[in-house]
Amino acid sequence: MAGRLLMARLLLAILLALLQGGAFVAAEGDETCSGIVPMKKRGEVVSITDFGGVGDGRTLNTEAFVSAVAWIEQRNAPGGTLLYVPSGVWLTGAFNLTSHMTLFLAQGAVISATQDTSSWPLIDPLPSYGRGRELPGGRYMSFIHGNKLHDVIITGENGTIDGQGDLWWNMWRRRNLRFTRPNLLELMHSTDIIISNVVFLNSPFWNIHPVYCSNVVVRNVTILAPHDSPNTDGVDPDSSLNVCIEDSYISTGDDLIAIKSGWDEYGMAYAHPSSGITVRRITGSGPFAGFAIGSETSGGIANVLAENLNIFNTGIGIHIKTNSGRGGFIRNITVSDVNLWNVRKGLRIAGNAGDHPDDRYNTNALPVVDKLTIKNVWGVRVLQPGSIQGIKKSPFTQICLSNIKLDIAAVKAVPWICSDVSGGALEVQPAACTNLTSTNGMNFCTGAL
Ligand SMILES: *[C@@H]1O[C@H](CO)[C@@H](O)[C@H](O)[C@H]1NC(C)=O
Ligand SMILES: *[C@@H]1O[C@H](CO)[C@@H](O)[C@H](O)[C@H]1NC(C)=O
Ligand SMILES: *[C@@H]1O[C@H](CO)[C@@H](O)[C@H](O)[C@H]1NC(C)=O
Repeated sequence: MAGRLLMARLLLAILLALLQGGAFVAAEGDETCSGIVPMKKRGEVVSITDFGGVGDGRTLNTEAFVSAVAWIEQRNAPGGTLLYVPSGVWLTGAFNLTSHMTLFLAQGAVISATQDTSSWPLIDPLPSYGRGRELPGGRYMSFIHGNKLHDVIITGENGTIDGQGDLWWNMWRRRNLRFTRPNLLELMHSTDIIISNVVFLNSPFWNIHPVYCSNVVVRNVTILAPHDSPNTDGVDPDSSLNVCIEDSYISTGDDLIAIKSGWDEYGMAYAHPSSGITVRRITGSGPFAGFAIGSETSGGIANVLAENLNIFNTGIGIHIKTNSGRGGFIRNITVSDVNLWNVRKGLRIAGNAGDHPDDRYNTNALPVVDKLTIKNVWGVRVLQPGSIQGIKKSPFTQICLSNIKLDIAAVKAVPWICSDVSGGALEVQPAACTNLTSTNGMNFCTGAL
C-alpha cells in the first residue's frame, strides 16, 4: 500500500516535471516555516511505558496517557519533557496535552483511537460557531486535544495518529450521530506549536484544527483518509494567526486545506480573524477542494499566501467561498504556482456557499471580498475553468487572475462564469470573462506578473 502510494506520487511528480520542462523540482523554494517556531530539544524524556502503557493494540491506554501528561505538567521540567511512544499500537481514548511537552511517535508507533465511542468526552461548542458544526449543542472532544497551551511539539519518525474514523463516518451515514464528530487533533487558544514528521490517519472529522491559536507550524506530515470519508478536511486553521503549513501530502474525503474564522452571527461577534497564513509545497487529492478559504469566514480572513501546490484528482482546485449572512472579509489573498491535474473545476470564488448555524443570522451581514490574486496556475485535464460569482449588494473587487493556463478536457468547452465581480485578467486561457478587464487600473494585478 505504502509502496504503491509512493510510486503514484513519484509518477505524478515526474509527470508534472516533464510537462513543465523539468521545472518542478527546481521550482521548490528554499523558504520554510522554521523561523516561526524553532524546533526544541527537551530537557527530559519519559516513555508511555513508564506510566503502564501497553502497545499490544488491545489494552486501553487512556489512563497511561492522562497520567503521563499530568506528570509532565506537575513536574514542569526546565526545557520541557518529551513523551516517547515506542513502536506498537497504543489504543486509547481521547486525551489532553499540556504545555512544554513533545509527543514523540517512534517509527512503527500508532496511537489508535478507541472503538468505544459511547464514552467519548463532550466539550462546549466553539464560541465562534455557537453550536457544533454538524449538530446543535456541544461536540465530541478531539482525539488529541489542547486548550490554552504553549510550546507543544508533536513529532517523531513517521509514527501514526489513527482516528479509526469509520465508526464515526458510519454514524454520520446512518444519521445516528448525537453531537458533532471529533477532530483528530484540535488545539484551542494555544501558541508556539509544531506538528511534523507524523501521519494522521482516518480522522473521524477534520484532521488538524488549530483554533484561536498563533504561531503554528505544520510541516512534513502525511494526512490520509478515504475519498468517501465525510468531512475529513486535512488542515483547517481557524481564527488563528501566523500559521505555516508546508511540505505535506494530503489525501482525504474533503478539502485538503481550508482556512476558516467562525460562522455567521457567532463568528462576527467573536471577531477573531485568521491572518498571516502560509501554505506551501502541498501535494494531494480529494473530492472537494485542494486549497480552500471558507465557507466559515465571519471573523475575517486576510494576508494568506499559498504557493507551490500540486493538486490532482480533485473536485475544485482553488475554492474561496463565503455567503450572505456571514459578514467578515476575505482580503489580501495570493495563491500562486499551482499545478492541477484531473480536476473538475480549476477555480471557484463564490458568494453563495455553505449553510447557516440557525435562522438568527443577519441576512444584511454581507462579506467583503477584496484583493485576491490567483497567478501561475497550470492545469491538465480540467473539465471547467471555473466561476467567480460575487454578491449583488457586495461585489467582489480587485480579483486578479494572472498567467493561468488550463487545458480543458471537456468535449464542449465551458467558458468562465462571472457575476458581481471586478478586477483584472492577464494571460488567462481559456479567455477570462469580460468582467475582468485587461487594460485600465490594473496596478493591483500587473504587479502580480
Ligand atoms: C481536557 O480538556 C477539556 C477541554 O479543555 C476538558 O473539558 C477536559 O476536562 C480535559 N480532560 C482532562 C482529562 O483533563
Ligand atoms: C520528514 O519526516 C520523515 C518521517 O516522517 C523523516 O524521515 C524526514 O527526515 C523528515 N524530513 C524533514 C525535512 O524533516
Ligand atoms: C510515512 O508514512 C506514510 C503512510 O504510511 C507513507 O505514505 C510515507 O511515505 C512515509 N514517509 C516516510 C518518509 O517514510
